[in-house]
Amino acid sequence: MLSVSPPEFVDREFTKPLLCGPGPADLWPSVIEAMSKPSVTTMCEEFYHVLDDIRLGIQYLFQTRSKLVLAMSGSGHAGMEAIISNLLGPDDTLLIAARGIWDERALGVAKRYGNFTIVTEVPISNTFDFEHLESMLKKVKPTALFITHGDSSTGSVQNLEGLGKICHKHRALLLVDTVVSIAAVPFLMDEWEVDAVYTSTQKALSGPPGISPVAFSARAEHKIKNRKHEPPFYFDIPLLALQWNCYGNSRKYHHTISSPMIWALRACLQELAKETLQKSWERHTRVANHFHKRIQELPVKFLITKPEDRLSTVTTVVLPPGYDYLQFVKYMREKHNILIFAGLGPTVGKALRIGIMGVNSTIEVADALIEGMTSTLKGLKKSSL
Ligand code: GLV
Repeated sequence: MLSVSPPEFVDREFTKPLLCGPGPADLWPSVIEAMSKPSVTTMCEEFYHVLDDIRLGIQYLFQTRSKLVLAMSGSGHAGMEAIISNLLGPDDTLLIAARGIWDERALGVAKRYGNFTIVTEVPISNTFDFEHLESMLKKVKPTALFITHGDSSTGSVQNLEGLGKICHKHRALLLVDTVVSIAAVPFLMDEWEVDAVYTSTQKALSGPPGISPVAFSARAEHKIKNRKHEPPFYFDIPLLALQWNCYGNSRKYHHTISSPMIWALRACLQELAKETLQKSWERHTRVANHFHKRIQELPVKFLITKPEDRLSTVTTVVLPPGYDYLQFVKYMREKHNILIFAGLGPTVGKALRIGIMGVNSTIEVADALIEGMTSTLKGLKKSSL
């Protein structure tokens, strides 16, 4: 006897907005098409070839020759959890350079795995200088330093060039979140001596959320091979490396990977290979510079004071006194059909977060945002009179 009757699903109206929050961004048409390709089973030749293509694409994306590259099934959080749980056990210390919500998340994840954690912070409108980080590395002697490259909660970009060497001088690994920076901001894993990195597809890669590329350096691989702890089965990198054929001749089943996600990631990486990293970086910089210049026509302020610290994908803007952030977001959606976000984590009630990335990184989108924001500032002012 069934005790629950079948629900009635009514068609839901949905007007797709222009996605100008900190992600997801709109999708490449080729990605939309790729997601409707036939479902392929995890254990057939065709599927393995797609995984091989993806590994090459990820090596290009992160600029690494490491063999240990693959994609975690899950959003960027899966990447975060995978690198922390594979590299640190209960005897390890993670030093967290915190300036936004993602470092807070890393702290929460590391605590759940019983890692010893130490946090060093900067005010939300700043980034870290290497002297400070080096003094912390000397003092704490951590197993690894976790840092976020682009931070979508504050809209800042952290310089990383040279940080890997400093970490290695102090026998620490460097773990980096590149979710909202990859493909938009230069990132060179091997040259900068990064040991573990993760990203996601829904930002400058213009794909759907749900799959998270990761890569590990030789140092990180050595640490994984010699670890005494066991990470969760689902995140176990050596097992996943067998499924992804990272070392050649191993096609061992681990879990059933979502084929629409695999096709989508492959299409994102193919778009990037066509455009090239340099051109994608240049496009994001050019559009962000244009947007940042035009923002100065409005009576708003940048949250990030130093121009060189401003992230090209997410701009954080402080509204004049008297404006409400959530009302502003609502007005932009209702009157202009543009979706921007209010603050998150440390920027709640303090800033708007405006994302221009991936397929939306164009001068036209930047201008549409300025027009929408100009009219919203006027409209909300009138309605409060
Ligand atoms: C999610 O990535 C966000 O920044 O809101």
